[in-house]
Amino acid sequence: MSTLVTGIGELTTNDDELGRMRDAAVVLEGGLVAWVGEAAAAPAADARVDVAGRAVLPGWVDSHTHLVFAGDRTAEFEARMAGEPYAAGGIGVTVAATRAASDAELAANLDRLADEALRGGTTALEVKTGYGLTVADELRSARIAAARADAVTFLGAHLVPEGSDAEGYVDLVAGDMLEAVAPHVDAVDVFCERGAFDEQQSRRVLEAARARGLALRVHGNQLGPGPGARLAVELGALSVDHVAFLDDDEVAMLADSWHGGRGTVATVLPACDLSTRMPLAPARRLLDAGAVVAIASNCNPGTSYTTSMAYCVATAVLQMGLTVEEAVRAATLGGAAALDRDAPRTGRDGRPLAPLGRIRPGARADLQVLDAPSITHLAYRPGVPLVHAVWRAGDLVVEPPGLP
Ligand code: NIG
Repeated sequence: MSTLVTGIGELTTNDDELGRMRDAAVVLEGGLVAWVGEAAAAPAADARVDVAGRAVLPGWVDSHTHLVFAGDRTAEFEARMAGEPYAAGGIGVTVAATRAASDAELAANLDRLADEALRGGTTALEVKTGYGLTVADELRSARIAAARADAVTFLGAHLVPEGSDAEGYVDLVAGDMLEAVAPHVDAVDVFCERGAFDEQQSRRVLEAARARGLALRVHGNQLGPGPGARLAVELGALSVDHVAFLDDDEVAMLADSWHGGRGTVATVLPACDLSTRMPLAPARRLLDAGAVVAIASNCNPGTSYTTSMAYCVATAVLQMGLTVEEAVRAATLGGAAALDRDAPRTGRDGRPLAPLGRIRPGARADLQVLDAPSITHLAYRPGVPLVHAVWRAGDLVVEPPGLP
């Protein structure tokens, strides 16, 4: 079954040759993009959807979320808005609520948020563990995430749980816990920050993960200057996330990491920076230096309780100094690069995975249609839900209003 999406007023492809097109059409078939070109030259297809001059772009690739959790931290948010600083210790509140929840409750909460994200145009999601912090709780978190997410990240090194000593807990994370979760995850992350894990502890976890052939990520430079970004680049991590505090050498180091091959993506989390009253990450400086930047939601109940990638994109434009095109690219292809899904790959189960983040033949057919003539409206009309329709892997998952 093939579908022709035509009448596209503006098509953002993220493809170097195709670029941004006017009066375009796309054919979807077998879950993939089969054809892209001028509407006037479009081939016939089994079905036809005319989007009447609207803008079409790749679905958002949200490469940083913490969606396996229970509970709510409204009181902590209110205290922060009244002037209290954010501290890593708040994670413990969500750990207690998550441990007390059933598998079904955790899966239902994840589905609720993933559905909300999908309605907002997010077609690919990374989900982290990290609110279990025992072998059994991290394992069930990984399993629950794997049932829904495009990429699963093990974050046992999120916080030293109450009652544990730090070195003993790092031994557990890098040993038995990693062993248990490894078959269910794509990557391993550490919260390398004051109040969480120091450089040497983070290195131990990441080296153990690397020895098992898993990809690496680092939460780094979120609450102040620190070793996270350097460690990420040194160990060849796919991404370092947060990066609110980077000096010029660290910005240059992230850019240089791409010379001669795949480097480390700098993932900025604008909604988190605002919700924690931290400085906004230097996305403009990173792009000017030549770094590869991703924008993600960091949806979690503590620091960033939003699934809205459109909000993050608008913030990146209005407050971080990115152009709309740069922000859209970072929230789609940048996220795909952070997940190592910007090219064809093989999944954990050995099946082929189509690339994400572009609209070109061979890519996964993940498209969002805006109820607007151009992507500029994402920043020009901030806060307005502009999603008109969404296809994910070729399936129409958000139908245009008025469809019979
Ligand atoms: O990415 N920084 C560490 N982890 C989450 C926050 C988790 C929480 O406070 O619950 C983040 O912001």
